[in-house]
Amino acid sequence: MNKNIAVIFGDGIGPEVTGQSIKVLDAVAARFGHSFHYTHCLMGADAIDKTGNPLPDETIEVCLGSDAILFGAIGHPKYDNDPTAKVRPEQGLLKLRKSLQLYANIRPVSTYPSLHHLSPLKPKNLEHVDMVIFRELTGGIYFGKKHLSEDGNEALDECTYNRNEIGRISHLAFQYAQGRRKHLTLVDKANVLETSRLWRKVVQEIAADYQDVKVDYMFVDNAAMQLMLNPKQFDVILTENMFGDILSDEASIISGSLGMLPSASVGTGSALFEPIHGSYPQAAGKDIANPIGSILSAAMLLDHLGMTEEAATVRAGVEWTLSYGFVTKDIDAVNYYSTTTIGDLIRDFVEQKLPAGVDREHLSISKSTII
Ligand code: IPM
Ligand code: MG
Repeated sequence: MNKNIAVIFGDGIGPEVTGQSIKVLDAVAARFGHSFHYTHCLMGADAIDKTGNPLPDETIEVCLGSDAILFGAIGHPKYDNDPTAKVRPEQGLLKLRKSLQLYANIRPVSTYPSLHHLSPLKPKNLEHVDMVIFRELTGGIYFGKKHLSEDGNEALDECTYNRNEIGRISHLAFQYAQGRRKHLTLVDKANVLETSRLWRKVVQEIAADYQDVKVDYMFVDNAAMQLMLNPKQFDVILTENMFGDILSDEASIISGSLGMLPSASVGTGSALFEPIHGSYPQAAGKDIANPIGSILSAAMLLDHLGMTEEAATVRAGVEWTLSYGFVTKDIDAVNYYSTTTIGDLIRDFVEQKLPAGVDREHLSISKSTII
């Protein structure tokens, strides 16, 4: 297959982790006979520095015309600490989500036995954790009316949802649940918020079309607690934009490292794939960041393009590196490897260059090739 992929490196560690994904995608193309064509475009602080605009029109056009978008990270400390900044990197990402109608953000959370010791949760609570968060991404308080009074003493952020916005992501989440353990939990605050009551109503109606899926309803405050107490109870979590933002960061620590988790944002046109970690500016350019969140996002991209065997091969490569202890500094602060080395190893795995059953004690890595 020939596919056009828009690549947005973005800020901080974005370029170096996304670079590893491209290496792995190239290996996939070579092994499985595909051709991926990449078009690089700008977004975030990088785009502000170069063009004054966090999301140049050209980026929107390239993304609209692509089969998929691979994105690194967004954000820079110089904007975080300046609440008066008129232009912010994050505006680029929010506008891209809206322009491409990327209404569903899908974040799988799984655990790896070799990383259990890094999780703040007790090992017994980590077994069988396998959930996917469906976060609504183009509505709610993020995109409602905003206002700051002239005297600067009062501010407003409005939260609105309509039936259509709730319905389209709910259908996706139910269909996804049908392919898994057939259990969906709607997380809301229906005891307080009108928008949450509309979510419940619409989800209850839609549930009638998916009789095989068991539906639970949970208030967001309780859900935040349950995620830590008993995460294996969740299969598919469906929730609105802001709750999803908060809960997905909370859920990400279950796996042991924020650097491991991928995400997909899908909608009516081309979909976007990005690791859930941020731009991690302190690590930028040091070749120490964990590229696995990005590489697993590339695997989700392959799945989305219908390349399931290819995606499974990339995931097997990731598991291979973890099981042999080839990890970055966030996972093992003593025996760690560089961002580039992890990318090279996963590429080599995809290219079938690694000997089976190798023993880490007898491995030496030189120029990414195992001898
Ligand atoms: C995320 C991020 C974004 C969000 C920021 C960078 C605007 O936190 O993708 O979860 O809040 O949606
Ligand atoms: Mg977030």
